[in-house]
Amino acid sequence: MVDNTMVPTEQFGPEFLQDPHSVYSRLRRECPVQRVVLPAGLQAWVVTRYEDVRAALANPGLRKDFRRYPDLFARNTMRNRPGFVHPALVAHMLNTDPPDHIRLRKLVTKAFTLRRIEQMRGRIEQITTELLDGMDGKGEVDLVEAFAFPLPITVICELIGMPAEDLDDFRSWCNTLISGGEPDEVQQAADDTKAYLLKLIARKRDQAVGDLLGALVHAREDGDQLTETELVSMVFLLLVAGHETTVSLIASGVLSLLKNPEQFATLRADRSLIPGAIEEFLRYEGPLNMATFRYTNEPTEIGGVLIPADEFVMLALTSANRDGDQFPEPDKLDIRRDTAGHLAFGHGMHYCLGAPLARMEAEIAFNGLFDRFDHIQLAGAAESLRWREGVVIRSLEALPVQFG
Ligand code: HEM
Repeated sequence: MVDNTMVPTEQFGPEFLQDPHSVYSRLRRECPVQRVVLPAGLQAWVVTRYEDVRAALANPGLRKDFRRYPDLFARNTMRNRPGFVHPALVAHMLNTDPPDHIRLRKLVTKAFTLRRIEQMRGRIEQITTELLDGMDGKGEVDLVEAFAFPLPITVICELIGMPAEDLDDFRSWCNTLISGGEPDEVQQAADDTKAYLLKLIARKRDQAVGDLLGALVHAREDGDQLTETELVSMVFLLLVAGHETTVSLIASGVLSLLKNPEQFATLRADRSLIPGAIEEFLRYEGPLNMATFRYTNEPTEIGGVLIPADEFVMLALTSANRDGDQFPEPDKLDIRRDTAGHLAFGHGMHYCLGAPLARMEAEIAFNGLFDRFDHIQLAGAAESLRWREGVVIRSLEALPVQFG
């Protein structure tokens, strides 16, 4: 076992956020469990090899309970800055451990059924067509702004039952909450989001089940029901998890194809390859690629390194998905490859609840784009593209393209 006092602390600067792959590739080779300081000032242990990440995702000793966050942020943050989560919005299943997690996931699974998702298919096709109509005839568009962003947010809002006219407000609060900002602004956005969601929930209580939020409000399991705080947090999780990630999957997928024209041509020629290609996009440049976090509740061994109690562990999904021991020639996009076991949707008890919806949206989006445009190319140099700064989601700021 490696003595952790011998592991040097590495500084991850903003350049890491622009190109995590080369940093992760070096760490997999040289120091697969490495102590780091992130651009936000947070200290964490980053785990980069496939086997270690997969095992850690399934390790019940690594925890997520939101009630410990304030204390853990205080202990592990180099700079004095408030944590990026607001207490009113974090009491959801992705931030809980068993038995709370089992209880919450059971209640939500009852409402978020495959049938409910499948019922959205026609509507997703319709929204896709409308967005494509909006881009048609324009010489150059930002594919993120015009397509990848509005599609999933419209879908998740409709699925939940949020009126379309509230979308702009919600979008602006989410931007503040996710990208941070002045503490007062973040606080205000969190308060506004909470107040809004409470009002929406109150309305659903008086109605029949109908949409997803109605189903969540009325969901019961063994006499158990979601509390008001749990409901607010859950809707917030669904809204955020349900769109940021899918935006990234669509935009990164298109970019991966534009950078690999021969793969693009193959996919256009044989649409039956689209589901497999989506799995490869998820492996190659998946949305939660930077990492997902846990903390140690007690000293825990990962990949031969003993990590002390009460420290953050960053499970680098993108790195695991590009580990050559698991996926041969990992830095090559290959839409026909066997991607089984990729970790883009996680693994174990927190495995993504929205995976079927994300896959369906992406399939409709790529088919729609190919049907409408015979030719898509990057407008500008690939090197000028920027990734949004964030240590969880890897997402393009913009993707300017031209159609022909
Ligand atoms: C959890 C990825 C889309 C809802 C997760 C996790 C990952 C993930 C990696 C596990 C995180 C962890 O273990 O710490 C993705 C990706 C998506 C996507 C890559 C799109 C391409 C969605 C959508 C929804 C959704 C569309 C819902 C509408 C959730 C929920 C959880 C979750 C509720 C928490 C599950 C739990 O804690 O048991 N997602 N997600 N996701 N995702 Fe997704």
